[in-house]
Amino acid sequence: MRSLFLLALALAPIVSVVWSAQQHPYATYINFATDILDNDDGLTPHPLQGLPYGKPTYPLTTDGNGREQVEAHLTYFEGKYWMHSATWGCGGSIFVYGRVSGINFPTPPVYPPGQYGEPGNCGIKSYSSDDFMSWTLETFYQPSITVANVTKPVVRYSNATQDYVMYMGGNSAGIYYATSKSPGGPWSDPPQFMRGSYLNHDFDVAVGPDGTHYIVTDPFTSTEAISAYYNMPIWDIWVQQLAPNLTSTMGTPETTVRVRSAQSLQAQGLYLEAAGFFYYNGYWYMTFGRTCQNCAGPIYYYYSPNPLGPYTDGGFISLDGCGGQNKGANVLPSAQGPVVVAGNLGYRTSPSNVIVNGSIWHGDNHQAASSTYFFPLEFNADHTIKNYTCPATVRIPLVANVTTVPEPPTPYQLDCRIRGWQSIQAIYNPPKNGSTLEIPVWQRTDNLGQTTNAGPKLDGVLDVTVAFANGSSATFSWASTNISWAPSKIAIDVAGAEISTITLSTNSTNGCYGTLVEPTTSGQSTYGSLIQGVFKKSPKAQLFVNSF
Ligand SMILES: *[C@@H]1O[C@H](CO)[C@@H](O)[C@H](O)[C@H]1NC(C)=O
Ligand SMILES: *[C@@H]1O[C@H](CO)[C@@H](O)[C@H](O)[C@H]1NC(C)=O
Ligand SMILES: *[C@@H]1O[C@H](CO)[C@@H](O)[C@H](O)[C@H]1NC(C)=O
Ligand SMILES: *[C@@H]1O[C@H](CO)[C@@H](O)[C@H](O)[C@H]1NC(C)=O
Ligand SMILES: *[C@@H]1O[C@H](CO)[C@@H](O)[C@H](O)[C@H]1NC(C)=O
Ligand SMILES: *[C@@H]1O[C@H](CO)[C@@H](O)[C@H](O)[C@H]1NC(C)=O
Ligand SMILES: *[C@@H]1O[C@H](CO)[C@@H](O)[C@H](O)[C@H]1NC(C)=O
Ligand SMILES: *[C@@H]1O[C@H](CO)[C@@H](O)[C@H](O)[C@H]1NC(C)=O
Ligand SMILES: *[C@@H]1O[C@H](CO)[C@@H](O)[C@H](O)[C@H]1NC(C)=O
Ligand SMILES: *[C@@H]1O[C@H](CO)[C@@H](O)[C@H](O)[C@H]1NC(C)=O
Repeated sequence: MRSLFLLALALAPIVSVVWSAQQHPYATYINFATDILDNDDGLTPHPLQGLPYGKPTYPLTTDGNGREQVEAHLTYFEGKYWMHSATWGCGGSIFVYGRVSGINFPTPPVYPPGQYGEPGNCGIKSYSSDDFMSWTLETFYQPSITVANVTKPVVRYSNATQDYVMYMGGNSAGIYYATSKSPGGPWSDPPQFMRGSYLNHDFDVAVGPDGTHYIVTDPFTSTEAISAYYNMPIWDIWVQQLAPNLTSTMGTPETTVRVRSAQSLQAQGLYLEAAGFFYYNGYWYMTFGRTCQNCAGPIYYYYSPNPLGPYTDGGFISLDGCGGQNKGANVLPSAQGPVVVAGNLGYRTSPSNVIVNGSIWHGDNHQAASSTYFFPLEFNADHTIKNYTCPATVRIPLVANVTTVPEPPTPYQLDCRIRGWQSIQAIYNPPKNGSTLEIPVWQRTDNLGQTTNAGPKLDGVLDVTVAFANGSSATFSWASTNISWAPSKIAIDVAGAEISTITLSTNSTNGCYGTLVEPTTSGQSTYGSLIQGVFKKSPKAQLFVNSF
């Protein structure tokens, strides 16, 4: 029955994404932009994993805070786009709670607990949008860390229970879920473990045309020693049909399939994780990235006309993941039918990252500065996926009732040059008028290696000094415990002032405070760094300040 139904769908005409993007309203998404700080942003990548496609951008939400879209997952429910993503604004569990135990790294320091983000868990943010451009934070889900550390959200709807189910990964103990009557939460707390076998590590949930859901997982099986210190984890790949409540597998032998064994993958030299899974145009697709913590790598895929396989090797569709790690694809409706938008984890690197066997073993610990790149996938007539082309800017075709093309976003770029020995300064001529200034700021302690940083928080304060046209000035300070690791606005009240400079400085010795910069829009602002009184201009950039 199912295969006949799928065949009928396979024959239905699917209009090409490229054509539809030109003819109908689309959203513009910026993956990479020109470096407006000319290679001087305080975030030098590792030479083995630079940023060959451009600087990642960092978007804002409607309230002026950074849109934290690490591990971002997209859906369309109830007439809106939804984005569920992990936040690492608390710095991540390795900083907040001390080192990760069980990782074989030489003499890891043990840090005292940090305070940002209490009660602790970095958590999950749910955002909504009418047009894929303007996103609003709906809820922030932070279960207690004594119950669960939650990341990698994926949201599906159970027709049987009329609940939205948010899956969250994924440690060795299992895959968590929470439920809600709305796609934006509030989500049930505490989260529960899904019921079934082979449910841990990375996962994704695909939904077929008849509403049946299937989960792919890559559970841990063993390790391969690749150096004196490091063991490469090896994973099986399993696919299982979910029960109608979507919180349990069916658990029967005929709905539980090992797609590939760890041994067969190892024999092929394929070290795969970061699973994606989706249905499109009569076929089921599984995509994977290279096993690597927080790093970029190739994307490999399998495909089959049957959700439970057998699956054909599709091969590599990208050798470098466009500078990111596979996250899995999101199937969204559009005026011309479904579009498949692949997500890609844009992790950062830094010169101190650990190298094993000639490639990055563990990327930057500062996941809050990473982003998600989105690439609409294109398919060949034989159902294979076309290779990635890594465009800097993409067009996402929109649903039928969005009738105007939304304005493209501003390509905000991260600037982390506020250090003990360096400040940043914006000079306004003529002076800038404003009563309240809002500036998104963030912190980053220096990365010292795998899961090791120069402290759980900066050891100094963030000072914002505002100089007025009348010659006086005022300094406002924030403790590092009050500054997120992701851009979050601070507000400064300067009642009706004419502002001639804004200077951001710190006495920290173990990292940098950051801001957001945008391309210069007028001649009023001059922006740059200040080292021992010497101003170095960044001519293409201006400090992002919301003043009113
Ligand atoms: C689009 O249509 C859906 C119902 O089909 C509705 O819920 C939603 O509000 C509409 N969105 C806009 C932007 O008009
Ligand atoms: C969450 O992570 C912290 C830090 O690694 C750990 O102490 C805690 O036990 C974790 N909680 C659970 C439920 O695993
Ligand atoms: C969802 O449930 C309703 C009624 O319970 C049923 O009519 C409909 O066919 C179901 N849809 C799917 C996709 O299963
Ligand atoms: C979900 O459905 C499965 C299979 O019917 C059942 O075993 C399980 O108890 C259900 N879970 C919940 C939370 O009701
Ligand atoms: C797609 O990329 C892979 C990996 O680089 C390459 O082997 C293959 O030839 C490419 N296919 C096409 C059609 O260019
Ligand atoms: C390490 O590098 C060698 C040589 O490039 C390669 O054959 C081997 O597969 C690599 N091992 C791992 C675990 O990546
Ligand atoms: C700022 O306010 C002053 C006095 O209120 C006014 O003279 C000046 O033109 C304003 N500057 C700008 C750039 O609007
Ligand atoms: C920075 O200054 C604050 C007080 O303004 C002080 O508490 C802190 O210890 C200083 N940090 C360093 C690294 O000197
Ligand atoms: C942190 O922010 C809160 C709320 O804005 C404020 O009450 C508190 O005094 C601040 N703490 C420090 C140490 O700056
Ligand atoms: C200068 O302007 C600032 C901001 O409006 C004000 O707080 C301060 O009192 C003024 N100083 C003098 C000397 O007029």
